[in-house]
Amino acid sequence: MLHGHPSPLFWLERDVLVADVMAERAASQREIPKQLNLYVATPCCLPTDPDRCGFCLFPSEVYRNRTQLDTYLRYLAREGAMYREYFAGERLASIYFGGGTSNLYKADQYATLLDIVRAVFPALGPETEVTLEGIPQLFTREKLVAMRDAGVNRVSIGVQQLDDEMIAMSGRKQKASQVFQTIEWCHALGLPVSVDLIFGWPARPWRACSTI
Ligand SMILES: C[S@@+](CC[C@H](N)C(=O)[O-])C[C@H]1O[C@@H](n2cnc3c(N)ncnc32)[C@H](O)[C@@H]1O
Ligand code: SF4
Repeated sequence: MLHGHPSPLFWLERDVLVADVMAERAASQREIPKQLNLYVATPCCLPTDPDRCGFCLFPSEVYRNRTQLDTYLRYLAREGAMYREYFAGERLASIYFGGGTSNLYKADQYATLLDIVRAVFPALGPETEVTLEGIPQLFTREKLVAMRDAGVNRVSIGVQQLDDEMIAMSGRKQKASQVFQTIEWCHALGLPVSVDLIFGWPARPWRACSTI
């Protein structure tokens, strides 16, 4: 399901056993200081025109419905189960729920998402930074409460651009007001929040044309 990692450049023509992957990891860790950080993607996004917001190289499928995410969560749990024995006793420094779009889930699905991680890393504590990233128009107060209650302690908003007319050129449906509202909710709920901005966003097409 997670077709973004490893990159297709590193795909092999044969199956690789989890035991082999972990043996390679253990060998590399003799030289590299050990700090464990986990990245969990949700490789689905709302459709845009142009496709993939017109700029994004991250792998994703078009989001259709909740069932698609429930299926993904079941695969994620199976993958976790395959690795559980190898991470016994290890602690995570941080978790990042990225994407794709990790705030596509309904409020009640965040507990499941965090439970899948806890099934592999039961020792998850308050010292672990747990970030969930999403798009402005899909954050609601109800979802933020559910995320926080499930164990998320940091939020990242994919803003890119605050000019509504310019953002619309990418096919994204968000409004700047939704960014500010989400930041307000995060502050009220005690959730640290950061934003992604893209520098050098293209100007309106008619401006660009007038210079040709
Ligand atoms: C993969 S996106 C996931 C977050 C969420 N789906 C969104 O669109 O806001 C994570 C961040 O990667 C950045 N990103 C994606 N494609 C990029 C590109 N081609 N150049 C620079 N930044 C990019 C964006 O700033 C985005 O917020
Ligand atoms: S919503 Fe985010 S992850 Fe999805 S295509 Fe757009 S920038 Fe990429």
